[in-house]
Amino acid sequence: MESQKAQTVEKYQQYVMQTYAPKLLLVKGQGTWVWDETGKKYLDFGAGISVSNLGHCHPAVVDAIRRQAGILIHTSNLFMNENQPKLAEKLAKCGYDAVSFFANSGAEANEGLIKFARKWGSEQGKSEIIAMEDSFHGRTLATLAATGRSKYRKGFGPDMQGFKHVKFGDFAALEAAITPQTAAVLLEPVQGEGGIIPASKEYLEQVRALCDEKGILLLFDEVQCGTGRLGTFFAFQSYGVEPDALSMAKAIGNGFPLGVLMVRRPYAQVLTVGTHASTFGGTPLACAAGCAVVDTIMNDGLLENCRIQGEYLTAGLEALAVEFPCIQKVRSKGLMIGVQMDRNAGSLLPILNELGMIALTAGENVLRLLPPLNVTRDECDTAISLIRKALSKWQSDNL
Ligand SMILES: Cc1ncc(COP(=O)(O)O)c(C=O)c1O
Repeated sequence: MESQKAQTVEKYQQYVMQTYAPKLLLVKGQGTWVWDETGKKYLDFGAGISVSNLGHCHPAVVDAIRRQAGILIHTSNLFMNENQPKLAEKLAKCGYDAVSFFANSGAEANEGLIKFARKWGSEQGKSEIIAMEDSFHGRTLATLAATGRSKYRKGFGPDMQGFKHVKFGDFAALEAAITPQTAAVLLEPVQGEGGIIPASKEYLEQVRALCDEKGILLLFDEVQCGTGRLGTFFAFQSYGVEPDALSMAKAIGNGFPLGVLMVRRPYAQVLTVGTHASTFGGTPLACAAGCAVVDTIMNDGLLENCRIQGEYLTAGLEALAVEFPCIQKVRSKGLMIGVQMDRNAGSLLPILNELGMIALTAGENVLRLLPPLNVTRDECDTAISLIRKALSKWQSDNL
């Protein structure tokens, strides 16, 4: 009899488009742990790329989805549902006086952000968006054009017009790039795919002041770094710099597809009836999951835990850097952690898997750790010890 994994691999090869190359088959998750088909357990410090921020199968999310699925799943936005404004209110009350548009993914939320900026700019003859080198905003054509990492655009030209890129963190370069056609500046407060690169507070303050002075919108992509990941609900709150609009997705549904475009109240009338839409955006089911996520983050002390465990893990990784010369630097903010290695970190991942841990890479040579916000100290200790073991093997393999 063919093994469960062999059968799954065969079906993938025959019927699924080969745009990914997954190696592990996961069948179950609970908290910070996932299991493969053989019963082997893995400490999950990838959280589905910053999606399962409450851990796998969090009871509040499971209950909310189960309950709502038996009442009303979908209506379309031609009808009201109770959960959509409930979630929009909860988000605003997390500290951003903004209105929300609901979508289903990060790319779709960012499409909304781009359309919002263009619509606002169209009244003043402005359409250009200045984005950042090494940024990542999604795989749709507009979000690819906004993405600074050009490798993702290869083969999909011609590029959509209206985007320029400047070096992230270089204020003078940004200032020089602004023209009378500039409508908006778009950035991730902490670049995720680019290698866990946090902006400095000073830089974001300068960018905010420049946008105010020039009458330009400031847009934050908080798809990866938002929803509590930095130890504040919104990423911008970690910097004290408020954008005019922001996008969220990934963790806001803790695995249930949900994206959000939020725009500050003075801009609430830019997108009006008929100017933007989504069939699935903001279903009663998705918003039930979103409400459970916001309540859990805000009421269960997860932001504080994120800050505490983030510092603890960072200190542990910095101690490893003394032991292992292949570690060049540890960059972190909250539980968004990047370990800069001296070479491509990709081959470290299977070694970690072998030892029972899941992690990610980012940028060129970065090991990326994104554990859930409710990760425990014991789990952080286990992670450090598994990373130490993996590095010993990796370093000797690479000699
Ligand atoms: C900062 C950022 N923006 C946008 C996206 C795209 O999100 P999605 O894959 O849900 O479309 C990602 C995905 O990794 C991201 O990290």
